[in-house]
Amino acid sequence: MSALAARRSNDSGREFDLSAAALSEIIGLVRSDTGIHLTDAKGELIYSRLAKRLRVCGLADFGSYLALIKSKPGIAEREEMVSAITTNVTNFNREPHHFEHFRQTALPDLVSKLRQGKSVRIWSAGCSDGREPFTLAFAILDAFPDAAKSDFRILATDIDKKSLATASSGIYSSDKIRHLPDAVAKKWFDNSGDELRVKDTARQLIRFNRLNLMGDWPMRRKFDAMFCRNVLIYFENDVQSKLFSRFADGLNDQAYMYIGHSERVIGPAEQLFKPVGITTYQFHANGHAT
Ligand SMILES: C[S@@+](CC[C@H](N)C(=O)[O-])C[C@H]1O[C@@H](n2cnc3c(N)ncnc32)[C@H](O)[C@@H]1O
Repeated sequence: MSALAARRSNDSGREFDLSAAALSEIIGLVRSDTGIHLTDAKGELIYSRLAKRLRVCGLADFGSYLALIKSKPGIAEREEMVSAITTNVTNFNREPHHFEHFRQTALPDLVSKLRQGKSVRIWSAGCSDGREPFTLAFAILDAFPDAAKSDFRILATDIDKKSLATASSGIYSSDKIRHLPDAVAKKWFDNSGDELRVKDTARQLIRFNRLNLMGDWPMRRKFDAMFCRNVLIYFENDVQSKLFSRFADGLNDQAYMYIGHSERVIGPAEQLFKPVGITTYQFHANGHAT
């Protein structure tokens, strides 16, 4: 019997043995590394995402994989584990109502600030492979083609190194832009072999950085708008609540905040974020009257 067949013949019928104890340890590590709250009910998802890593590492069971990611030499693999576990679903112009609101309501004031020589900062937190901040860059450049010559920057951050590598390259397969109108595709993308590359005019507006929302944030300047969409949904309520308070500390008064379709602002900061549209809020540093 081959080694693979021998592995498949373990009690669970799975290629690799994942004991309840190993599953709960993985859930604990994921939570402490990322804030992502998984339960035993996600066992199948955890198994299928990490089984690939066991194959790459040539390991026979999850016990050995745990030993590796807890060891010093296993630091790089621990990051691979984070990459494998994070859900990175995104799209250009995802949840289009946010970008409509941004273009129509937020942008005019931001452009006016830039024209006055003031700085404008936008944060895309949990930007995945960059399609969200690039959609923002396209909107900015449509309204203010000279944005790169002014004090304007989009900070785009994520915990997942692999997604950030794609984001920094600005290169996407054609299926990722298929839903965009031809005029938009032509305007913002160059051909790069079989793929498409976001034009430099848009790329130069964005700084992609690795940042774990659970850790320290090095940014000192406050933001004029923030997108943190479909990220907090993976965290428990008390973590979300703390993060909204931290976001509040990092926003300029009147800044717009966009969150994912199944998320809502919770916790003490709720009184500072006035709902102004579908999962769209305006930050009021002194609170808002409902
Ligand atoms: C579903 S994607 C959302 C992408 C984009 N915001 C959107 O809505 O299209 C969630 C992203 O959050 C990131 N993420 C998860 N936990 C994180 C953490 N603790 N710090 C920073 N990013 C995190 C994941 O890596 C993933 O790319």
